[in-house]
Amino acid sequence: MWLVIKLGGSLLFNINGELHLDLIDKWLDVLIDLTQYSKIIVVVGGGILARRYIVWGRRLNLTEFECDELGIHVSRLNAYLLLAALKQRIKATDLRVCGSIPTTPRELYGLRNSYDIIFVGGFIPGQSTIGVAAEAAEASQAKLLAIATDVKGIFDKDPKKYPDAKKLDEIPIESLIEMFLKRDEHAGTYALFDIQALKLIKRSKVTTIVFDGRDPENAREIILAFLRGNTEFVKRTATIIIT
Ligand code: UTP
Repeated sequence: MWLVIKLGGSLLFNINGELHLDLIDKWLDVLIDLTQYSKIIVVVGGGILARRYIVWGRRLNLTEFECDELGIHVSRLNAYLLLAALKQRIKATDLRVCGSIPTTPRELYGLRNSYDIIFVGGFIPGQSTIGVAAEAAEASQAKLLAIATDVKGIFDKDPKKYPDAKKLDEIPIESLIEMFLKRDEHAGTYALFDIQALKLIKRSKVTTIVFDGRDPENAREIILAFLRGNTEFVKRTATIIIT
């Protein structure tokens, strides 16, 4: 059984671009713990570092394609950082950790039977790492796609702009697709979802949850609650996308 966890870049860095070492430390513990229950693909976002590169790229007149490529490189670099840190930590165990960062869905698909945990960053221009997470979930026929971000779930309006925004306990995938169809998408500005990702989630029918990854212990509880069939807890603490 596979679990795909998307770690948003906002969890890795603070607003000054410094690494959130404590948070990363806690997430590594949670990831190692969760390997007792499932094999895991960890999809790592680019965060502020990717956005900085994209701003620099635009100043140098790079194309959208080239700016996306910068974001992809940074997300892979972030994925490698977490992979290397996890390997340091589990020296004495027999956990099979994939030592490279797959760069295409095909490569990931080919490697999946040989490892217990695989880290990935970006795949191709024109999407965000949410797209990668959806591709990884479809390729591995994941039981769950768990999206860890810096808000408590999906809200009826942007919670960073509107203090009265309400968290949705669940939302049908069709409603999300409708919401995201209206948005423009450029390098570095893909919102919580991009449209390709939503279509893949719909097609593969992978159950997807969105939750706050700033508290890794709570994130662990939410993922375990889902795996144990306690959807009431998941609805209270996260948003379930109904496929
Ligand atoms: P992210 O998915 O990290 O975007 O990729 P993000 O909006 O910054 O999300 P978080 O908050 O870090 O999770 C960074 C950029 O890399 C490019 C896109 O330009 C994206 O905005 N990218 C990433 C791709 O073009 N293709 C990919 O497969 C992944």
